[in-house]
Amino acid sequence: MTNEDKEVAISSETIELLNRRRSIRKFSEKPVSNAHLDALLGAAMRAPTSSNIQAYSVIVIRDKKILAEVYPIVNNQEHVLNAPVFLCFCADLTRMEKAIIARGGSMDENPLEIGLVSSIDASLVGMSAYLTAESLGMSGVMIGAVRNDPSEMARILKLPNKVYVVFGMVLGWPAEAPKQKPRMDPGTTVHYDLYGNQKDERSLVEKLESYDVELANHYTSINKVTTPDSWTNDISKKFANPSRKELRAQLKMRGFDWL
Ligand SMILES: Cc1cc2nc3c(=O)[nH]c(=O)nc-3n(C[C@H](O)[C@H](O)[C@H](O)COP(=O)(O)O)c2cc1C
Repeated sequence: MTNEDKEVAISSETIELLNRRRSIRKFSEKPVSNAHLDALLGAAMRAPTSSNIQAYSVIVIRDKKILAEVYPIVNNQEHVLNAPVFLCFCADLTRMEKAIIARGGSMDENPLEIGLVSSIDASLVGMSAYLTAESLGMSGVMIGAVRNDPSEMARILKLPNKVYVVFGMVLGWPAEAPKQKPRMDPGTTVHYDLYGNQKDERSLVEKLESYDVELANHYTSINKVTTPDSWTNDISKKFANPSRKELRAQLKMRGFDWL
């Protein structure tokens, strides 16, 4: 064993912040100031962006009437209705389209790549905003359920064509301290040089079985109904059947013809 291989406790403020984070869905009455929002969004937009395209827009929603309209789209998630602030992270092709069309070109040549990079760009800004908020003592939860109905989200938020909401984010000052949900071990999710070279040499079936047990124990400890095959059962129930059947057609209508 070399010195490098010896276990050394490496830490930093960012590592500590990530290691203690979990989604928060209950918030205190303390308002989120515009100064906090400006600071966290300004920092978030330093996120890397593919070819410097910056193919995203963020919509900051405080208007309770708008949240009431979004509420049914997200299957009545109370934390969205009561959000101190709700951010919508959008893939936005309007600025690049303007540049390309002004030079006689067309965006239609690269629909897959452009659809992907704009969605990745929006996600990187969103995660950066989330972490910056955490660094300020705020917290929240991402909301993918806005993709239940991209057309309705577009109507409510007056989105032009070539813009869709990739995900939303509830942010505020936390008023709950839930237990952290366990993650799969890096021995399951990290590979060295070649796929399959992993620190944990057990079979995938064995690894999933132990994660199922770990997650089931977690859910039991917080009085949440679960099954012994917790993760594999949840994932099969959720993704083995068609979900968001209209998503492809609706994104195509918005100008994201990339699937
Ligand atoms: C893109 C994305 C969409 C999500 N959508 C929702 C959502 O609609 N509602 C919700 O309550 N949580 C949502 N979550 C939160 C996840 O359920 C949560 O991150 C996951 O269960 C792990 O729990 P943790 O964040 O507490 O560690 C979403 C997370 C991500 C990354």
